[in-house]
Amino acid sequence: VKTIGVLTSGGDAPGMNAAIRAVVRTAINKGLKVKGIMRGYAGLLEEEIVDMESTSVSDIINRGGTILYTARCKEFTTAEGQQKGADICRKHGIDGMVVIGGDGSFRGAGKLSALGINTIGLPGTIDLDIACTDYTIGFDTAVNTAMEAIDKIRDTSTSHERCSIVEVMGRNAGYIALWCGIGNGAEDILLPERYDGNEQALINRIIDNRRRGKKHNIIINAEGIGHSGSMAKRIEAATGIETRATILGHMQRGGTPTCKDRVYASIMGAKAAELLAVGKSNRLVAYKHGEFVDFDIQEALNMTKDIPEEQYEIAKILIR
Ligand code: F6P
Repeated sequence: VKTIGVLTSGGDAPGMNAAIRAVVRTAINKGLKVKGIMRGYAGLLEEEIVDMESTSVSDIINRGGTILYTARCKEFTTAEGQQKGADICRKHGIDGMVVIGGDGSFRGAGKLSALGINTIGLPGTIDLDIACTDYTIGFDTAVNTAMEAIDKIRDTSTSHERCSIVEVMGRNAGYIALWCGIGNGAEDILLPERYDGNEQALINRIIDNRRRGKKHNIIINAEGIGHSGSMAKRIEAATGIETRATILGHMQRGGTPTCKDRVYASIMGAKAAELLAVGKSNRLVAYKHGEFVDFDIQEALNMTKDIPEEQYEIAKILIR
């Protein structure tokens, strides 16, 4: 491999810039050329490709978002789109690629590998929903952002003796909700992986909490369950307790990355460039059992994972 491309794809995540910086600088250190692909696979198909030097990634480690921009690209899910992408890579002399994104982006990365472009994936998503890894770039910043916001909601919720439903992101996964539930000391945590839809039981717990003298009820609701607004109305009607819903939304994707996200993203970015430099392809960099490792992309995509039961059991005791 002589020239590598780097792109960010899917939802952005704080720490992506640190990963890009590490890819660029490590690759240059190994004697490789680097090109930045703008707007993910969509930019690849539009040939939005720029040369990157060491200084192209100066002053970005502390910035949220992604300097390469990102997009979700339908065309790249088709065989024609993937072939066109591989041809464009060859046209620009790109024989290696680092794809920073989530599962959808990795399916595309696997296809690029099959078409002869050595490709390495890096897990970049706030959702932590990539099965092969215990860490994804952006999760740490997102849960800290959400935690701080929920602390603020708690203040006003207590003052008004209200019930507050706070909806956090995570798509179909409940990791952000679980971490905020524990970290914010919530009264209830609703996870798509566990919630049985028994709203009456939830209402009973709220009433019971009030009887035991609690001044507020913070309920962390995962995006995968959703319907926070209508849930709040039903809870207020059933309990007589003023209830408000707050959907934290895209603020969870922004902001300056935490130290952990900067450091882990840097290590993962460096590892991706190192793998390409030694001729590896079709690998996903991951953090598993306390070590940075890499997996075959297809094997990684076939893995499954679930909310750690122990953490959920602990949460259930602590929220009472
Ligand atoms: O995957 C990251 C994420 O923020 C999810 O938590 C959420 O479901 C989705 O992206 C939102 O996507 P969009 O930015 O397209 O609204």
